Amino acid sequence: MISAASIDLVFETARVEEVIGDFVQLKKSGSNFKGLSPFSDERSPSFMVSPVKQIWKDFSSGKGGNVVAFLMEHEHFTYPEAIKYLAKKYNIEIEETEQSNEQKEKASERESLYLVSEFASSYFQKILHKTDQGKSIGLSYFKERGFTEDTIKKFDLGYSLDEWQAFTDEALKQGYNIDFLEKTGLTIVKGEKRFDRFKGRVMFPIKSMSGRVLGFGGRILINDKKAAKYLNSPESDIYHKSNVLYGIYDAKQSIAKEDNCYLVEGYTDVIQFHQTGIRNVVSSSGTALTSEQIRLINRLTKNITVLFDGDAAGMRASLRGIDLILEQGMNVKVCTFPEGEDPDSFAKENTLEELTLYLEENAKDFIQFKASVLFEESKNDPIKKAETARDIVNSISKIPDQIKKEIYIQECSRIMDISEEVLFTTLAQISNKDNKETSKQIQNSSKAFEVIKSKAPVKKIDVQYVLERKIIEILLLYGNKTEDFEDLVLKEDEAGELILEPVIQQAKVFEKVFLDLQEDEMEFTNAHFKIMYYKIIESLNQNPNFKLNNFVNMVDPDMANEITTILMEDERYALSNWERMEIFPKQKADNIAQFVSETILSLRCFLIDQKVKEVQQETLANKNDVNRQALEEVRDYSDLKMLLSRKLNRVL
Ligand code: CTP
Ligand code: MN
Repeated sequence: MISAASIDLVFETARVEEVIGDFVQLKKSGSNFKGLSPFSDERSPSFMVSPVKQIWKDFSSGKGGNVVAFLMEHEHFTYPEAIKYLAKKYNIEIEETEQSNEQKEKASERESLYLVSEFASSYFQKILHKTDQGKSIGLSYFKERGFTEDTIKKFDLGYSLDEWQAFTDEALKQGYNIDFLEKTGLTIVKGEKRFDRFKGRVMFPIKSMSGRVLGFGGRILINDKKAAKYLNSPESDIYHKSNVLYGIYDAKQSIAKEDNCYLVEGYTDVIQFHQTGIRNVVSSSGTALTSEQIRLINRLTKNITVLFDGDAAGMRASLRGIDLILEQGMNVKVCTFPEGEDPDSFAKENTLEELTLYLEENAKDFIQFKASVLFEESKNDPIKKAETARDIVNSISKIPDQIKKEIYIQECSRIMDISEEVLFTTLAQISNKDNKETSKQIQNSSKAFEVIKSKAPVKKIDVQYVLERKIIEILLLYGNKTEDFEDLVLKEDEAGELILEPVIQQAKVFEKVFLDLQEDEMEFTNAHFKIMYYKIIESLNQNPNFKLNNFVNMVDPDMANEITTILMEDERYALSNWERMEIFPKQKADNIAQFVSETILSLRCFLIDQKVKEVQQETLANKNDVNRQALEEVRDYSDLKMLLSRKLNRVL
């Protein structure tokens, strides 16, 4: 665990505009910076960074937050990874909090495995580029496959000498522990003897989402029927085959940006695609796709295009695995290559334009594709046809979205020439198995309906929503400031008349807000705002040095995002007009006290209006029964309203 003090120090030091500036070209615009959204393709900038508020907002995708949120979003770092990245950038030494000895051992062991792997990767690269054997065998092999020098460097490709323990010896000489060499599988230990696992192979390091080396794939260069073509690192504490995708580190940004991920089978497919110019591609490395791997992609996009080598047998086997992707609610397309070609060879022979066009023209919706393949196979065999119908409906049943399911049933009915009724019945039978699940879902959905029905009219919510939101904004921006508030107090003048007299009261903004709202026993109607409101008040109350920055950092990401949206709302206004520069947003900070009073009073007036209407409606409903109490209530409210209006007028 990184200590809280270290995290604080990182947040205090890091400047959001500097960090984002490393990834996005930012231009100064008023007190903010603007740039092109890194999360979508756009021509006019809708990405804003506020150095004052230390937050960013991308108006094209709706994303936003603080500096860490940016790194998590853009680099797909975990929270600790983002903190560590910032610490490194700003030369801050991270201090880890107390861990149990066992935890420490585990963490330091994993760290050691990472370090050994990192060392091995740079060693293999050095051998490839700097030794005679590396150059004449390894490098020339990669060049023969058509990889450029840049590509080879980009993927950190390497070579392991054709000697029994050259690597192991060097690693030991450099002080790496034999235990960790064995645990990562880089060295095979047999009694007294040690062997390099990857002897005489070209090396493909396999990296995590954040770019750390987890393991290796090594390809043999000679034709040897007894030896496997590819040898991979064994499972270890840092390498879990089912949790990694080859190429994910180099592809993640492009996957998010293109909103699609190409899935291929081999290491070389990934590399060749990159070299041709398509970067949103990862490989499952020859094994069946797992749910964990799909989840990795699902974090980046909802769309997968599976690319099949041009052999029918392999494709038939893989069709089943795709149901797993459907289960996660993703949209799946498939694309096959001509007989005898795989993505690697096809990309090598074609230009980017040709490859792109091929993918565009040949990627087919998975369900439609499967239905037509199955139909071709079984059209003259009624028994087989029944079987395949069940097969395709089974795939459709995995799709979580009800509407999509229905559309697909209709599609398949057309493609396979089977009636919709039969397919729907089959679907019902299959779904019946998870009957309990389904009935639970139905219950939930009818509940959701009730909530919607009982909601108040839209218009009422709107005004109140805006005002509640404004109050949150006030608390966040000025909550801690001490201001002079002018209040009107009822007094008797010398003649005994009741008059309103202005009184200046000094108070903290948040206290003023809290006390005024409490006076009316006012509660937020918006559930999110309500939670936020109490959270902010609590923080302000406990911490005299409340800083917006720290607050945003400490709440959960959803709330942080919502807060950013609120705070950036007025920037957006500036954004849409900044080219013309005609409109200047109201400078709220000029007169905070006035802004606060105005907002609170507006909300109070609004609530009183609501109350009056409620009472009036009740009275109308019991027409015959003149409700004295209700009338009095209305009169009280009207008086209060008048008082408030006068206050409001004075403020305005
Ligand atoms: N693979 C493996 N072990 C093997 C064969 C294959 O782990 N013995 C994995 C590798 O990740 C390989 C992928 O399966 O990249 C696809 O296998 P294949 O199509 O045979 O390899 P290619 O990538 O086409 O390899 P190459 O072009 O180098 O022959
Ligand atoms: Mn190949």
